[in-house]
Amino acid sequence: MISIKSKEEIEIMKKAGRIAEKVLDDFNLFIKAGITTDQLDSRAKEIIEREGGIPAFKGYKGYPGNICTSINDVVVHGIPKEEALKNADIISIDVGVMYEGYFSDSARTYAVGNASKDAQRLMDVTKKSLYTGIAEARANGRLSNISHAIQSYVESHGYSVVRALVGHGIGSKMHENPEVPNYGEPNKGIVLMPGMTLAIEPMVNEGSYDVEVLGDGWTVVTKDGKLSAHFEHTVLVTKDTPEILTEWRKKKQ
Ligand code: MF3
Ligand code: CO
Repeated sequence: MISIKSKEEIEIMKKAGRIAEKVLDDFNLFIKAGITTDQLDSRAKEIIEREGGIPAFKGYKGYPGNICTSINDVVVHGIPKEEALKNADIISIDVGVMYEGYFSDSARTYAVGNASKDAQRLMDVTKKSLYTGIAEARANGRLSNISHAIQSYVESHGYSVVRALVGHGIGSKMHENPEVPNYGEPNKGIVLMPGMTLAIEPMVNEGSYDVEVLGDGWTVVTKDGKLSAHFEHTVLVTKDTPEILTEWRKKKQ
């Protein structure tokens, strides 16, 4: 079943979304060489709690962090630790917030200091692929149009989309139906309806899309050791243009 959210529920989800964005906006300046991922984790916790939210990932299926911090060849679910960022690393930060019983989920990849041209291009393409997918989250359109738009955009730039992990419905649970793959044929899957809320989250690899999970049971890395980037928004399907619930000011894309 796919839940349709009421106006009231959407308002709460927007607040949850704003809190996640506060963390990600704060990290624009906070992320620099020398900072550890543990420090990012405590700062995120502080901001989320100050705003009245609860870090949604902590304890989820036993996940130990408040956020995910995924450096370079780590695709997603990197666990914060005593590890300092280095100049030219790229780091994907994934933040989930629960607020008054509702969830938001959002992610961005950042350059630490000066990223290489190649890394910057990977991040740009990944971000753009997210917005290309979001544009397809339209009432009466089929779900896989999102997937197809992301895959086509990414592959036309020479990168690959991860298959092993997908986006998802979101609401009073962090993971709801439907699954939202970042690849696939167009015009398949459910017909989207106003009030559906989706976490759309392309994970894009510089090399092959194959990934593996490290011994900690969480950290997902690229098999070939090449870079990976991740951007995510929580999106509401409306009668007209999709509304991004994890974007609280209209920003340039
Ligand atoms: N955005 C990720 C997802 O949708 C966050 C889950 S991390 C976890 O799967 F640690 F909470 F599992
Ligand atoms: Co998610």
